[in-house]
Amino acid sequence: MNAPLPADAAAPSSYYERHIFFCLNERKNGENCCAQHGAQQGFDRCKALVKAAGLAGPGRVRVNKSGCLDRCAAGPVAVVYPEAVWYSYVDENDIDEIVESHLKNGRVVERLRVPPHLGR
Ligand code: FES
Repeated sequence: MNAPLPADAAAPSSYYERHIFFCLNERKNGENCCAQHGAQQGFDRCKALVKAAGLAGPGRVRVNKSGCLDRCAAGPVAVVYPEAVWYSYVDENDIDEIVESHLKNGRVVERLRVPPHLGR
């Protein structure tokens, strides 16, 4: 039998304030994947901007690579937690806006949100 969770476990503080995952999945068979659409460049730019802005680290922001997030039709995609906001980006301007608006100031970039119906 599992022990009951302590009272404060219901609302644990997060190690990171925000966590963004970039799908970098590459399909060698030529099928659609985020790697075909500039995912590595998006990830690299986000990582560099977050670091340069002093946002990286515990209590702040973490930028991570991910495998397929199963929303390939919207690729390249990234998702930000804890808000669970999914983004599709095209170029470095989009990444700049996600970092400045969402990761830095907590404001969702509505124009880059993945439509709810888009999956694989
Ligand atoms: S390949 Fe990126 S979400 Fe599937």
